[in-house]
Amino acid sequence: MRIDRIHARATWPLRQLVLRPGLPLEACAFPHDEEADSFHLGAWADDALVGIASVHAEPCAQLPARRPFRLRGMAVHPDRRGLGVGALLVVEALNAVRTADGDLLWCNARTSASGFYTRLGFAVVGEAFELPGIGPHHLMHRAP
Ligand SMILES: CC(C)(COP(=O)(O)OP(=O)(O)OC[C@H]1O[C@@H](n2cnc3c(N)ncnc32)[C@H](O)[C@@H]1OP(=O)(O)O)[C@@H](O)C(=O)NCCC(=O)NCCS
Repeated sequence: MRIDRIHARATWPLRQLVLRPGLPLEACAFPHDEEADSFHLGAWADDALVGIASVHAEPCAQLPARRPFRLRGMAVHPDRRGLGVGALLVVEALNAVRTADGDLLWCNARTSASGFYTRLGFAVVGEAFELPGIGPHHLMHRAP
């Protein structure tokens, strides 16, 4: 397993498969994808991209921080789950945020995945809320 920086567009097929099923590839472009502070991580098994995570600089209204970063687009291929790929991506994202002098990593986590983030040291803030068309989420965060 290898974790590399990848281009935003390289995340689109896995985003589409896992996070935006049934929507066109263009729906897999997220705001902030191409900003200077943004980066995208890919987990490779041999030559196959099996997991992705994206990070960009963005404040969170409920979590004051000096240099906050947001984690988005966390997805592992359905055939490769439960093997530690997601955890590797989050650990690498945390390392990169620390290197960039960040003091907060936050995300809107699907409630179905909140246990994954809890195991990685993230804490929940407040009640679950609905993101239209996607489902219930929790605001979660941790220091890098
Ligand atoms: C959530 C997701 C990224 C996890 O990736 P993964 O590679 O399967 O996770 P890992 O194998 O690294 O799991 C790390 C730990 O979290 C646990 N875990 C994984 N998914 C979990 C979940 N949905 N709920 C609770 N715990 C979970 C694992 O059991 C493991 O625990 P352990 O360290 O005690 O063994 C992956 O299941 C996925 O892509 N899901 C669909 C898309 C999604 O929900 N993305 C997140 C959007 S916010």
